[in-house]
Formats: sequence, structure tokens, C-alpha cells
Amino acid sequence: MDSFASRLIRWQRQHGRHDLPWQGADVYRVWLSEIMLQQTQVATVIPYYQRFVASFPNVAALAAASEEQVLTRWSGIGYYARGRNLHRAARIIVERHRGKFPRQFEQILELPGIGRSTAAAICALAFHKRRAILDGNVRRVLARYCGITGWTGKKDEEDKLWQQAEALLPQRDVATYTQALMDLGATVCTRSRPKCGECPVQAGCVAFNTGRINELPTPRPKKAVPERHAIFLLLMHGNDILLEKRPGSGIWGGLWCPPQFDDEAAARDWFVRNGMTASHGERLETFTHAFTHFRLHITPLKIQLSHKPLRAAQPGSVWLDVEEALRAAIPTPVRSLLKYLHRRVQ
Ligand code: ADE
Ligand code: SF4
Repeated sequence: MDSFASRLIRWQRQHGRHDLPWQGADVYRVWLSEIMLQQTQVATVIPYYQRFVASFPNVAALAAASEEQVLTRWSGIGYYARGRNLHRAARIIVERHRGKFPRQFEQILELPGIGRSTAAAICALAFHKRRAILDGNVRRVLARYCGITGWTGKKDEEDKLWQQAEALLPQRDVATYTQALMDLGATVCTRSRPKCGECPVQAGCVAFNTGRINELPTPRPKKAVPERHAIFLLLMHGNDILLEKRPGSGIWGGLWCPPQFDDEAAARDWFVRNGMTASHGERLETFTHAFTHFRLHITPLKIQLSHKPLRAAQPGSVWLDVEEALRAAIPTPVRSLLKYLHRRVQ
């Protein structure tokens, strides 16, 4: 008798949580707690749960209340759709089920705000039915224990997890087992630094046995970041370079940068419009700067001017000696460029 389930059940009796206010309560309270716990942590839920059941002690009281009254009690815990669905469900239970919370999984699943895992949790915890849950915590525990790779939000991986969740169900003590899974995910098999040393199922855990507790579950794949291109015009007159102060909003707001353009044509156009003449031009190597939301490929065009144009005196732009410029408020890629120029002029 040393299956995953039997180990968990034994562990829950000794080390699990036994003092949560909805444990062993009627189906109304189990339902309410499961809805509140969908997006909110246990410690936050408890006082809201207690005030809510004091105001609405059963399905009939909840159905009789106005939506306004229900949402007032829900206020502060967030995700108000949960409160509205709860209220709608109570009215459906009164109308369709004569005020008695349905016992059939399919009928529970039809109620607003209740998905597959929540319906299963209600069946298991309140009615001791053999139903498998798969909430966020259980996904993590099973991905690790069974060594399921791939992002668990994807259909294939999710199907595998449901299969495992059902295959691991015990024949008896499903309520204790269900609570054990939740407790293990919340207190031992935590997202970061799981306490594998205290885990009752360590011996059979694939992630533990293959040294992959930090890799599983596989995180959501990163979205591809957009790529953008820019030209930096490095206008030089002797050792001096022209910098412009960026507008306060947007990237590098308020920092000093060389004039920036989307492409070379725009840069050339600007150059000509400002009456500049070059004595020498050079395209430096393109480099990439990574922002959180995009990657910027920067091509610097270094131009030696034959004379300093008037434009330099405009507000918001300034000629600085490269060494002075290095002491100004400049972003990292500009700093790298200036250092490169500095080495070259020495
Ligand atoms: N999270 C979701 N359901 C729970 C429950 N019944 N006890 C503790 N945490 C939970
Ligand atoms: Fe989670 Fe560690 Fe237990 Fe595996 S051994 S189920 S990773 S706590």
C-alpha cells in the first residue's frame, strides 16, 4: 500500500492543513471556498469567506440577495465576475434544483463560474466522489512527479496531466487525497525551492530523481519579441559630437542620444535639410540592444563634418567633446558607441 495516493493520504493526516474553515463543511461552503480560492490565496480568502457566510449562510439566502448586496460582500477580493457568477448559480440552483446543490458532476459543471477542476473539487471534497482535480498547484506537482515536459497550458500537455490525475486517484479517501494534493502544492512542492526533503512522494518523483526540479514544469514559452531597426547619426566635428535630448516619454526619455532615424534615407534627408556637408562618412557595424518588449538593431553612421552647422545651437541639442559626453546622462548603447569613438580619437 505505497502508491502515490496512499503516501499522500497518510501525509495529509499528519502534516496537511486541518483548520481551514471550509474543511468538512457543507457543499455550499465548499463551493464558495473553491470559487474564492480560484484566484486568491488561502490567507486572504479566510476573512472574506467568513464575512460572506455570515451574510449569506446558504444557497437560499444567496439567491434571495440582490446582486448589489452580493458584490458589496465580494468587494476587496477582486475578480467580480466570480461574485456575479456565484449569485447567478445560486438562483439557478433555486429554480432548477429546488434549492438543493446538485450532486452530479455534469450538473455542477453547468453552473456559471465552475470549470472541470472546480466541479471535481466540489464532488471530491463535499460528496467524496472519485473525481480528479487539476488546478495550478496540481499541474505543477504532477508535471514534476510524472516528469511531463512542455508548457502545461498546451493542449497535449494538459491532456497528459488530466490522464495522470485520473490514473493516480485512489479508490477510497478521495476527499483527503484531494486536500493532500492541494496542501502538498501549497506547502511542499512550491513553485520555487520545493521542500523535496519533506515530500512523501519523493521516491517516485521523476523531477527529483532526474535532477530537474528547477526545470519542471516547463515555463510558458516567451513570446517572440519584435525586431526594429534604427540609424544613429554620429555627427562629428573634430572631437565633438552632436547629441539631442530625448522627449520625456518613450524609450530613453530625457537622455542624450545622437539623432536617430528609421532608415538611411531619412537620415540623409535630415542631413541635407540642415545644410550639412560631410568631409568623410563611415558606416559602423550594426549592433543590437534588447529592450523588454523589442530588440533594436542600431546602425551607426559616423560623419565627419567639414564645418559646424548652425543647427548645433538649437535648444535640445548640444555639441559635446566625446569625453564630456561620456559624463552626460546617456543610455547604455550610446555609452558603448562613445567609448568606441573615444578610443579611436586617442
Ligand atoms: N485551493 C483550492 N482549493 C483549496 C482548498 N480546499 N484548500 C486549500 N487550498 C485550496
Ligand atoms: Fe515536488 Fe520535490 Fe516532491 Fe517531487 S520530490 S513532488 S519536486 S516536492
